[in-house]
Amino acid sequence: MDPPLAPPPPHVIIFPLAAQGHVNSMLKLAELLAHSGLRITFINSEYIHHRLLRHADIQARFTAFPDFRFKIISDGLPLDHPRSSDHFMTTFSYVKSITMQLLEELVSAPDRPVTCIIADGILTFTIDFAGDLGVPVVAFRTISASCFWAYFCFPRMVESGDLPIKGDEDMDRVVTSVKGMEDILRCRDLPSFCRVADLSDWTLQYVPTQTLQTTRARALILNSFDQLEGPAISQIRTHFPNLYTIGPLHSHLKSRLSSSSPSPSSPPPSPASNSIWEVDRSCISWLDKQPPKSVIYVSFGSITTLNRHDFTEFWYGLVNSGRRFLWVVRPDSLAEGGSGAVPEELREAVAERGCVVGWAPQEEVLHHGAVAAFLTHSGWNSTLESVVAGKPMVCWPCLADQQVNSRLVSHAWKVGLDMKDVCDREVVERMVNGVMGERQEEFAAAAGDLARMAREAMSEGGSSWGNLDRLIEDIRSMKP
Ligand code: UDX
Repeated sequence: MDPPLAPPPPHVIIFPLAAQGHVNSMLKLAELLAHSGLRITFINSEYIHHRLLRHADIQARFTAFPDFRFKIISDGLPLDHPRSSDHFMTTFSYVKSITMQLLEELVSAPDRPVTCIIADGILTFTIDFAGDLGVPVVAFRTISASCFWAYFCFPRMVESGDLPIKGDEDMDRVVTSVKGMEDILRCRDLPSFCRVADLSDWTLQYVPTQTLQTTRARALILNSFDQLEGPAISQIRTHFPNLYTIGPLHSHLKSRLSSSSPSPSSPPPSPASNSIWEVDRSCISWLDKQPPKSVIYVSFGSITTLNRHDFTEFWYGLVNSGRRFLWVVRPDSLAEGGSGAVPEELREAVAERGCVVGWAPQEEVLHHGAVAAFLTHSGWNSTLESVVAGKPMVCWPCLADQQVNSRLVSHAWKVGLDMKDVCDREVVERMVNGVMGERQEEFAAAAGDLARMAREAMSEGGSSWGNLDRLIEDIRSMKP
């Protein structure tokens, strides 16, 4: 008699919000789960999918998993539409309706029974919908645990009078209603959505509501680790007993890939980033020619735009600091359209000690020996990448969770300086020289300690490693 067939592996549907920062970290999670033998269906927007998969290395990574497949949906806009950070709101109803249709199809397909859905925690409509289909949902949030916790405390902030913020003169008031973070947060450090006088503002209502709704999911995954955001994580755990802190995901994946014995069917090691932009590697050759720890790396992520004034102040601040710098200026960086050209009188100085590219291999740059520090917009992926690389930061946060993250850098971890709400050439110069000069040793030592903690969390026996194993076991115990 033939031996009985082995049961199929658990099948997980992963569904991120269609934005680079969200897709990036949820793809890392997808890859980690696929690496552990789970069957994955990743729902991706057509626009992001085409831009991602034109990179042969990214394509090769996913085709190497026999049980990994993408399902593509439109985000409702033509492919050549210049998407902005607020297209999420305008296309929301459309995306919701076609996603529900697709989920229904996937769940009813007899050949790939669905074990669970890991949904972006900002799209909690999936929790009720999947509940009706009888499929458990695990929520994943791409932001810091501290920001997640601040959103969670929104009703308490309103009740206590911490919100609304009463104008500019109120910005430095200490916020007392975010438990565990009383020593850290001022009004200025709350998520940017809190900076409105009208509490019925759509975004301010939507984001905290989604956060509170996540308690109805089966579990919550955060891209963080216990030692990094202890105060927020311990508070969150009291509301989410099934909490999996498994980050930093970009590095956790590498840690797992390098610890497993290579076999002929193993996928190639993961590259730096799931980037939708064309990477310009000329900056690595430029860095190779610079002295050790002499360069500040400058990047404001994938969606932040600067106005002409801000650009000019950064150009002057960087040049006047006298330091070498590598600046990522995306082709769409300038809010008024186009990218921020170098002011005429700075051209020579920039050519002497600067390098400007449209998109860099960021993780590789941060690990480069010539790079001493990172001037960042404090996006959560960038923050985690800097933490892992052990690089001090100068923070210039723009939106959403970035205001909270930059405060963690300057006041919780003490690995850099926060120049939030100020864009002035003298301040840029002073901050850059602060992390590269006067306080360089202090910040580098603290950043080194944080990097060591991150490595421990992602090593066998570490907290993130153990939590990922627990998550995989829990998924395996769910019945399709
Ligand atoms: C957005 C929000 O800004 C952020 O606050 C939120 O936490 C996630 O969504 P984004 O602006 O793209 O993300 O910033 P960030 O989260 O830092 O992600 C940027 C990613 O692009 C990083 O993984 C970084 O490595 C990558 N990158 C950036 C490059 O690979 N090359 C570059 O030149 C610049």
